[in-house]
Amino acid sequence: MRVLVTGGAGYIGSHTVVRLVEAGHEVQVVDDLSNSSPIVLDRIEEITGVRVPLDVVDVTDRGAVTAILAQHPVDAAIHLAGLKAVGESVEQPLRYYRTNLDATFSLVGAMADAGVRTLVFSSSATVYGAQASPPFEEDLPTSATNPYGWTKVMQEQVLRDVAAGDPRWRIALLRYFNPVGAHPSGRIGEDPQGHPNNLVPYLAQVAVGRREKLLVFGDDYDTPDGTGLRDYIHVEDLAAGHLAALETLAAADAGGVRTWNLGTGSGTSVLEVLAAFSRAAGRELPHEVVGRRAGDIAASWADPTRAHRELGWRAEKGIDEMCADTWRWQETNPAGYDGPPA
Ligand code: NAD
Ligand code: WQD
Repeated sequence: MRVLVTGGAGYIGSHTVVRLVEAGHEVQVVDDLSNSSPIVLDRIEEITGVRVPLDVVDVTDRGAVTAILAQHPVDAAIHLAGLKAVGESVEQPLRYYRTNLDATFSLVGAMADAGVRTLVFSSSATVYGAQASPPFEEDLPTSATNPYGWTKVMQEQVLRDVAAGDPRWRIALLRYFNPVGAHPSGRIGEDPQGHPNNLVPYLAQVAVGRREKLLVFGDDYDTPDGTGLRDYIHVEDLAAGHLAALETLAAADAGGVRTWNLGTGSGTSVLEVLAAFSRAAGRELPHEVVGRRAGDIAASWADPTRAHRELGWRAEKGIDEMCADTWRWQETNPAGYDGPPA
């Protein structure tokens, strides 16, 4: 298939592009490079041997997206472009609502004009809000505890209504749990700008000497070791999930919206991740237990059985492989894409 990937120069997008190219699909990327580097396309070519075309465009610009679809017709789109930092969304709610919602309005409108109605949307387990207890399954009601999460809840609703109004739409809502890891080559990976908010990229920077120690946000949760439990999923497994969802949509007899959790179905604690990353880096990484982070929930993990059943997909990689692959990326790219090599 010919596939447009918005946000394809980003962390999850770049790994998804590699997987699509390796599966024989013809891919083009639209990305405004607001949180990524054009070097990513060089690394994708290094891995796959294919030069994936990049249009540096703001997806909220519907005219630009329409022009791209007119010049390079596609069969489907995977929509990952957007702002994703929870804390930043609390400080800049209007920017988050405008960017994330306008990007979806713009893309879906341009696709409809071009007669393209197969879409994989990047959602998040954050839509489960502060539900009582995991495992979280797809039919649970959605809510959010921050503007970023609300943009995902709202985009899902917009897409459900688009499909209800025109049954030709085939839409997959993929709810990622906690994506971590990197391509085993070490040539692409997560390259957070500024202070990494998430656990694993922060640990990677501790391991490579860019940060002094990990601050563990609370060890008084009602969990086996008192620290937060999350469903970490290898970005390679996540990329495979996108391929499975795309091909399942394309082969479906009818249109409609399908929602799938992409997670392993099990929770790992902060201290367990710290231990795994220490093993990967070959030394005990320093840490200090501090107070809880506002807004954190104790535990979150997926019920992934619907994706297993309907996509024939399941996550295969464990936390040790996630940490080893992250460490290989970070060790060989200590300052990310734009910094000097190791
Ligand atoms: P990322 O920031 O690495 O990738 C997003 C990409 O989109 C970047 O390359 C950025 O330059 C681009 N972009 C942002 N706004 C744009 C715009 N207006 N027009 C064009 N390009 C734009 O983030 P990621 O971690 O790869 O996340 C990708 C998607 O997955 C996001 O929608 C995010 O909400 C979702 N998601 C991420 C996580 C996670 O923990 N990383 C979890 C669940 C869902
Ligand atoms: C994981 C665990 C922290 C950092 C976030 C977003 C979610 C999604 C994925 C976009 C928690 C603990 C963390 C640190 C720590 N993103 N931690 N010290 O919060 O589960 O999910 O990223 O969709 O929307 O909320 O991931 O990696 O920030 O935290 O102790 O320096 O690690 O308390 O228990 P989270 P995280």
